[in-house]
Amino acid sequence: MDRRREILRELQLLPLWRWRDRPLQAAPSGTASTSAPGAAETDQEARAPRIEALSWEQLPTAINACTACGLHETRQRAVPGIGPGDARWLFVGEAPGAEEDRQGEPFVGPAGKLLDNMLAAIGLTRGESVFIANVLKCRPPGNRNPEPSEVAACRPYLERQIALLRPGVIVALGRFAALTLLDTEASIASLRGRVHRYQGLPLVVTYHPAYLLRNLPDKAKAWDDLCLARATFRNL
Ligand code: URA
Repeated sequence: MDRRREILRELQLLPLWRWRDRPLQAAPSGTASTSAPGAAETDQEARAPRIEALSWEQLPTAINACTACGLHETRQRAVPGIGPGDARWLFVGEAPGAEEDRQGEPFVGPAGKLLDNMLAAIGLTRGESVFIANVLKCRPPGNRNPEPSEVAACRPYLERQIALLRPGVIVALGRFAALTLLDTEASIASLRGRVHRYQGLPLVVTYHPAYLLRNLPDKAKAWDDLCLARATFRNL
């Protein structure tokens, strides 16, 4: 067995085609938007205060009904996030992929399996004391990179999630999450290894699980990052 398969086996990632079970918590659907069906709600200034006033329970409904960017036209399901409203940990990825778009839950493909194993490595379990979210709540077609206008349209939802959660530690998974939350152009390599602050909350940057699946040697660095996040949490 080659090295990659060996590590995948250790992480219980084989066979790669085996998807996870159904979501632990299905994202509720509904309509909170006042815009006409199919139309993009483009008035960002009007949206911001409306989103800032949403409760934890109202957020998924609003996200599921969101038409603020063109991604609502191609999504099957929006992916608000998963986890309890009193989660002490927040993990933030980039955007839903094909399987997440189908199921309405973040990180349910192979990268999600690795994320679950990363959580387990520091004693955490999806659905318990961890909230998992993405910068974008809807899938960019073909898994292309998020457009700046899409990030700008979606950012208020993540900001509101963080404001309501006030987690003990935020872990930014990959470049997009790090750049969005820290408002920087710096590389992941230069952002890793220290504790940043987002709105006063400790934030640790690590590699995206999908990147780690392609670059297994960097898993050791991701482990260091998780240890830093855990130590930060313990010292709160
Ligand atoms: N990659 C992400 O960044 N988020 C997901 O939900 C799935 C894959």
